[in-house]
Amino acid sequence: MAEIVVVESKRAAGELVAASVRRLIEAKADTVLGLATGSTPLPIYAALAESFRSNPIDVSRLRGFALDEYVGLPPGHPESYRAVIDRDVVAALGLTPNNIHVPNGDLATLEGAGAAYERAIEAAGGIDLQILGIGRTGHLGFNEPGSSFASRTRVKTLAPKSRADNARFFPTPDDVPRHCITQGLGTIRRARHLVLLAFGADKAAAIAAAVEGPVTASQPGSAIQLHEHVTVVLDEAAAAQLANLDYYRYIWANKPAWQGI
Ligand code: GLP
Repeated sequence: MAEIVVVESKRAAGELVAASVRRLIEAKADTVLGLATGSTPLPIYAALAESFRSNPIDVSRLRGFALDEYVGLPPGHPESYRAVIDRDVVAALGLTPNNIHVPNGDLATLEGAGAAYERAIEAAGGIDLQILGIGRTGHLGFNEPGSSFASRTRVKTLAPKSRADNARFFPTPDDVPRHCITQGLGTIRRARHLVLLAFGADKAAAIAAAVEGPVTASQPGSAIQLHEHVTVVLDEAAAAQLANLDYYRYIWANKPAWQGI
């Protein structure tokens, strides 16, 4: 079962996960992080930046792989996930740019980009900790409902709901790309530790389906139930539709501190 942690704020969520990431880096300087974009993981990156500032640590060997990228945006487009990762993660945390990878959404070289990304993750020894958000459709990365639990990095078509949700980042809704390249659910499931965050009432149904619903490709988030080490960090609003919430609170309240997440 996933471990469910309900926190009082996004900041507290960020600090909890950042502490865990920091412990990983202290134990293994070339830790491989799975990076997510979207608004959800920002408190983690902010807490990590603060942690590295107040108590410096060598992060020059830290490696990272982003979950996904839009297909066909011109290079350097400010809303490409490459640009977002460069800005919010690489620059903000002082990481080594060449160590941080994003799937290649360039139309000219799209064929083979998924397989190349899989090879790069494998060559790095796999992902130690994968940060995840969840879409209102239940998507992880951009694995929309119907995605195979065995899928690997490949091109997908964005669901209309996901395009609408991401329209806020583009001049007009029509400017949101229709295609993306995303790590598959099979890729995500190979990471050694999954940390899924969600905030706000909009995410409550997707979280309940992921944590307690049937395991089904119709709810990509439910793939977490097949993984042996998952931490789900939620605010009260995102946790509100969990049937066994009291039980999860009881487990967390009684967890020995030495266990970490
Ligand atoms: C995005 C990303 C996902 C993300 C999700 C939720 O479009 N492709 O990786 O988890 O949708 O986004 P947000 O965190 O902004 O709610």
